[in-house]
Amino acid sequence: MKITSQEFRKAFIDFYVSKGHALIPSASLIPENDPTVLFTTAGMHPLVPYLQGEPHPLGKRLCSVQKCVRTGDIDEVGDKSHCTFFEMLGNWSLGDYGKKEAIAFSYEFLTKVLKLDQNKLAFTVFEGDENAPRDDEAIAYWQSHGIRRDQIFTLPRKNNWWGPAGLTGPCGTDTEMFIVGDQDKCCEECDPSCDCGKYLEIWNEVFMQYDKQTDGTFIPLKQKNVDGGMGFERTLAILNGYDSVYDTDLFRPAIELIESLANVKYGDNEETDKAIRIVADHIRTATFIMGDQKGVLPSNVDQGYVVRRLIRRATRYARTLGFEGEKLVELATLYIEEYKEIYPELLENKEKVETELLKEIEKFQKTLVQGLNELEKVLKFVKDGVLNGKTAFRLYDTFGFPIEMTIELAKEKGFSVDMEGYKAAEEKHKAQSKAGAEQKFAGGLADHQVETTNLHTAAHLMLAALRKLFGDDTNQRGSNITAERLRFDFNCDHKMTDEELKFVEDYVNEAIDSKVDVVMEEMPIEKAREIGATGIFNNKYGDVVKVYTIGDYSKEICGGPHAKNTGDLGHFEIIKEQSSASGVRRIKAVLKG
Ligand code: ALA
Repeated sequence: MKITSQEFRKAFIDFYVSKGHALIPSASLIPENDPTVLFTTAGMHPLVPYLQGEPHPLGKRLCSVQKCVRTGDIDEVGDKSHCTFFEMLGNWSLGDYGKKEAIAFSYEFLTKVLKLDQNKLAFTVFEGDENAPRDDEAIAYWQSHGIRRDQIFTLPRKNNWWGPAGLTGPCGTDTEMFIVGDQDKCCEECDPSCDCGKYLEIWNEVFMQYDKQTDGTFIPLKQKNVDGGMGFERTLAILNGYDSVYDTDLFRPAIELIESLANVKYGDNEETDKAIRIVADHIRTATFIMGDQKGVLPSNVDQGYVVRRLIRRATRYARTLGFEGEKLVELATLYIEEYKEIYPELLENKEKVETELLKEIEKFQKTLVQGLNELEKVLKFVKDGVLNGKTAFRLYDTFGFPIEMTIELAKEKGFSVDMEGYKAAEEKHKAQSKAGAEQKFAGGLADHQVETTNLHTAAHLMLAALRKLFGDDTNQRGSNITAERLRFDFNCDHKMTDEELKFVEDYVNEAIDSKVDVVMEEMPIEKAREIGATGIFNNKYGDVVKVYTIGDYSKEICGGPHAKNTGDLGHFEIIKEQSSASGVRRIKAVLKG
């Protein structure tokens, strides 16, 4: 079938809305309350508090098109299927309907809306283990729609258990849906867990009943949920009969622009194609992260480091295609045009994205050639096939080569990199520059719900203080909270003075000492605006919002959760104030017991 990206999004949303689901806007790519991952990785991610039982203002049936980033396989990008940014079409029952209806909806959407031949579909369900039984219910429900038993496969936990999105949170068994593709690709004893290409996965309905804890145990959720998710790019490609997401209308205009900027032809040779796909993917993702409602700019830590890696890798590959600099920015502009209706924040942040992207590209281009020459030189002297870590660190420190890039470049020439040596050099440097305080949280961090919730409430108070100091056009430009500290970016054109910092600390501590209740009210967005709540007012569909009021200190739109009373927070202290980007300052602060 031929279906455009716009038609497909609309078909999905119209269908679920017709089944009583409220459409919610895409949340930020930067997770609000999950310090265990850097980005929103699934449609359900922003809904975690509601899957855990908090009532959602728009009801128990929801659907969305959610921006997602998965960075696990940045280095895989370049083939026909991987992307770092993707959209997820999602549908949820928050303790409302169960497996039977979820399967009935999926069946109806696939066969009546998308008009897929039901004989060309396949399904998987959980085969059972010591923790949960085989999902005979799901088998029976699929069969009740005329699906043959031999189209349904039972698979182990590895395949049919989903989640959590980060390290902790809601998860459960699932049923996955596949289109049966090329029969010729079938290998012996093939089932949908095989990646021979016969079974093309398009959709996943998770029956979320468990909450994974920090210690790895599972406790039952208060309510049984359904969490449906469909990878948009991938399914769009499959429906259109393409063997690559890069053939869809989401990427075609970008690829055509690259063809004309670089004077190359996509499809001519594998090496050029790989470079084209890397540039197309990475610039799209960087545009979405920088242009997000909580946009993050390139830096050396956390999400900022991911953006930096993406831009630098794209720059290097664009150079191999013969273009660079402002021409790469044209690509970002094209994506903003393409997506601005669905994600208006991109248009709002257009100038910032274009300026900062160009800055980052130019900064890197200045040292790229020198760095490549340097690498070339040192590789000549490498004897045992391993580039020493100190050199790899110098390439990072002096020439701005992200370590992953050095590894990739070395690999192309048949070398590996001594990572232990690299880490040792990095540690030494950190100790010297006293930058060791910077907390990385790329993984392995426990979820300290109480600490992060308290810091989140402190962030509201801090923003209120900043607005008192610098005026009402002071806004949050990014924030990141771990159990240990709060990091908060906001617009401000100068380095804050000691007096200003003290004002903010005093304001927050006064609110804490006053032990005021944090009160949540749900209200229409117009009312929130009227009563002067701070926050992002670009909710397109969700017209009811939560406003958190902290006495006379702060009134802000937010998804929560928050501390119940400011008295729970402890003493607030700013540990650092620094520049984050031009016109953006960054505060790091802690709460002391
Ligand atoms: N949360 C599920 C997924 O991402 C639907 O596959």
